[in-house]
Amino acid sequence: MVRNKRFHWLLSLASAGVLVLGLSGCSGDGGGETGDDGGPTKIGFVAVGPEGAWRQANEANMQETFTKEAGFELKYAPATNLDQKSQIDAFTSFVDEGVDVILLSATEGSGWEDSLKRAQEAEIPVILIDRGIEPDTTSLYVTRIAPDNLQVSKSVAGWATETFPQGANYFVLEGPAGVSVVNERNRGWNETIGAKPEFKKLGAQTANWSTEEAKSVFETVLKSNNNKVQLVFAQNDEMGLGAVLAVEEAGLVPGKDVKIATIDGTKNALEALAANKLSFVAEYNPLFGETALDVVKKVLAGEKVESYIVVPSQTFNSPEAAKTALPQRKF
Ligand code: AHR
Repeated sequence: MVRNKRFHWLLSLASAGVLVLGLSGCSGDGGGETGDDGGPTKIGFVAVGPEGAWRQANEANMQETFTKEAGFELKYAPATNLDQKSQIDAFTSFVDEGVDVILLSATEGSGWEDSLKRAQEAEIPVILIDRGIEPDTTSLYVTRIAPDNLQVSKSVAGWATETFPQGANYFVLEGPAGVSVVNERNRGWNETIGAKPEFKKLGAQTANWSTEEAKSVFETVLKSNNNKVQLVFAQNDEMGLGAVLAVEEAGLVPGKDVKIATIDGTKNALEALAANKLSFVAEYNPLFGETALDVVKKVLAGEKVESYIVVPSQTFNSPEAAKTALPQRKF
């Protein structure tokens, strides 16, 4: 009973952005963590599953971090075909099972209130991995760990204003509707480009993070604009690489006739940048397992964490920059 009160009181602190947590019986000695029952600390990972190179790298990194050797039992629950219901079902079973912590990468931003409230009642801290929830009620979760989508997309917009000082017409290839990072990336881009009348928006359409879909979407866009599209903002690498294929298929030269900028920073994109097919790549660093591990330990040991922990990312604006980074690239 004592623990219940403490957790709710401490959770209200979380809404102030600062969390102090003392979950008796959960704190570890920094080496092998121990869960409530003295066994390994149980982590329920409500994950997205197969969705491209970035996701594969992020979720593999989480699984390689929360190992038995480190004192954890990570229960990996990827969504079925990106379906939110399968995620809510997995979340519910983790709450019922009484895991020590839940990691959540939401396929949809909205629809999480009830589940998060249930975790609170069960005194299970929830940490958001990459994706946010909408509305962003920070009192319902401990923290979100992710690169800063606003800054990442603003870096793309900044490059576009430097590259096209006279402005340009452009098209946006978006991720799936309803996903927090899509809205955040649109906001970051629009806050800069939206304020510049010399930049003319030809349109925007989802291509669901997919190369194939982006190729077919952009083929149609090129046709309906007489191949006169100067700039593409692709919200992830796979879609940017799809636009490259469409440009080549139209007999145009990517990087010359059409400049394409992407977000993620995967090997494939850096190779395309090194070959001058892409023109700018903003990294969205997926390798933050160690950060998540550090946060889980702090939360279970009653230490303070911020409500948003930003994972640092970098940008690549030339073939040379890409060539330099490629040899060490891990994703
Ligand atoms: O949520 C992050 C996005 O999800 C990545 O940018 C995209 O590649 C992934 O599928």
